[in-house]
Amino acid sequence: MRQQGRMFEADELAASIAHEVNQPLAAIVANAQCCLVSLGKPQPDVARAREAAERIVSNGFHASNVIRGIRAMLRRESLETAPLRINDVVADALASLSRQLRRSGISIKLRLSPDLRMVLADRTQLQQVIVNLMRNAIDSLAQVPKRSRSVEVSTCLDENGSVLVAVSDSGVGLDEQHLGRIFEPFFTTRKEGMGLGLSICRAIVEAHRGRLWATPSLPRGVTFQFTLPS
Ligand SMILES: Nc1ncnc2c1ncn2[C@@H]1O[C@H](COP(=O)(O)OP(=O)(O)O)[C@@H](O)[C@H]1O
Ligand SMILES: [Mg+2]
Repeated sequence: MRQQGRMFEADELAASIAHEVNQPLAAIVANAQCCLVSLGKPQPDVARAREAAERIVSNGFHASNVIRGIRAMLRRESLETAPLRINDVVADALASLSRQLRRSGISIKLRLSPDLRMVLADRTQLQQVIVNLMRNAIDSLAQVPKRSRSVEVSTCLDENGSVLVAVSDSGVGLDEQHLGRIFEPFFTTRKEGMGLGLSICRAIVEAHRGRLWATPSLPRGVTFQFTLPS
């Protein structure tokens, strides 16, 4: 989905929300019909009716998760900015994930430049960006053997004097055809995925007048990078 400045284009966003909520609603109707047919037989098929009812419950949960995700995406009306050191935000984000990282056996390599300028930014939102990128890295690394699970987080100044943050994993990586779609709201390849994490990250970074993009990393994995004007 295209984005204009800090806002999603309203009609496109509305269209993808409508699509995303319609799917579980259609499934609820189909499963409720199946349930009624199963119960309406001369010999009611209770087992089948129960299965249909269980699917209705999970369709309902899916729909409400979609709504929750949209709320999370739209909650950020204003930025509360203050001068901050990006390396501190990286440290906080990693600390909040430390248990998960340890449990998954992921080794973390840090290359944080010591002499960066301060950035004027919303600390909570930037932390959310880094945590979302790290969560995606963790998801991707779950699919490779433990000994090859690593993430490198680096910070530096780019050629324009912006602060550049990179999160690079050694996970499964991305197909060329997916690479162009991962920032679309609701695009996901994960069974449990909602497909909003990267949309939220991009909206936050662009609200800070920065850029966020992804490139394949070598020999495997993906590198996400974002800039923040300093
Ligand atoms: N580090 C990564 N390695 C491989 N694929 C990734 C990575 N991060 C994101 N992706 C791809 O981008 C998709 C969208 O990510 P995201 O917006 O966070 O939604 P979700 O995590 O709910 O699927 C993922 O489903 C996955 O296909
Ligand atoms: Mg995600």
